[in-house]
Amino acid sequence: MLEIKDIHTYYGESYILQGVSLELQKGELVTLLGRNGAGKTTTIKTIMGFLIPRPGAIHFKGREITGLRPHQIARMGMGFVPEDRRIFSSLTVLENLNLPVVGGGSDGWSLDKIFEHFSILEERIRHKGSELSGGEQQMLAIARILRSGAELLLLDEPTEGLAPFLIRTIEGIMKEIKKSGMTVLLVEQNIHFATEVADRHYILYGGKIAYHETNQEFKGNEEVKRKFLGI
Ligand SMILES: Nc1ncnc2c1ncn2[C@@H]1O[C@H](COP(=O)(O)OP(=O)(O)O)[C@@H](O)[C@H]1O
Ligand SMILES: [Mg+2]
Repeated sequence: MLEIKDIHTYYGESYILQGVSLELQKGELVTLLGRNGAGKTTTIKTIMGFLIPRPGAIHFKGREITGLRPHQIARMGMGFVPEDRRIFSSLTVLENLNLPVVGGGSDGWSLDKIFEHFSILEERIRHKGSELSGGEQQMLAIARILRSGAELLLLDEPTEGLAPFLIRTIEGIMKEIKKSGMTVLLVEQNIHFATEVADRHYILYGGKIAYHETNQEFKGNEEVKRKFLGI
């Protein structure tokens, strides 16, 4: 589904990703972990085409996408929920959910299915985006991407700043996303959440992937958690 081969990404003269490689098979839910500033968001932005790696190559569904523009990549079926949860604040929840999303395939979730899993959004259906709490905005941003029918989701810290009950809701949604066969690359700081939902983990450290293993192995590996994540 996604193959990243030895990407190097800079901001001006700052050398951030120093040879990152990873791959996701169809249907997998894989995390990208790492401390603050490790380059997780930079990796997501490079995959989505907001930053161009030099050198490095990215393949999505077998096609090289390196150098394509973000909207072209989105149109191929890659959905992205950024850290800052982009929704339309002057539109209602329902309007947000009914707006076409770039990349819209035919397999997007129906409104019924969205409300089944995001009951909080159904309760707020006539509220404007600006009237929602941070957690509700996050739900709406995820729901919008699920409406699009994207095959690969890139989620940048979806649980950040959320109350525990909302994290549990997102956990349930992740499991449902997995069931429906979508592939997910999840950037996370919440290790408990990450190990509840993921099949495998990659850890970014020093601009490279310092560790990649199954969820089973990672869960019990306290040394790796201490060394690369500081926990
Ligand atoms: N727009 C930018 N310009 C310059 N440096 C940046 C920019 N965005 C991030 N960085 C730097 O790149 C490094 C990785 O940032 P980021 O990918 O956001 O880390 P993470 O998401 O893992 O917390 C950090 O040192 C950060 O300061
Ligand atoms: Mg980040």
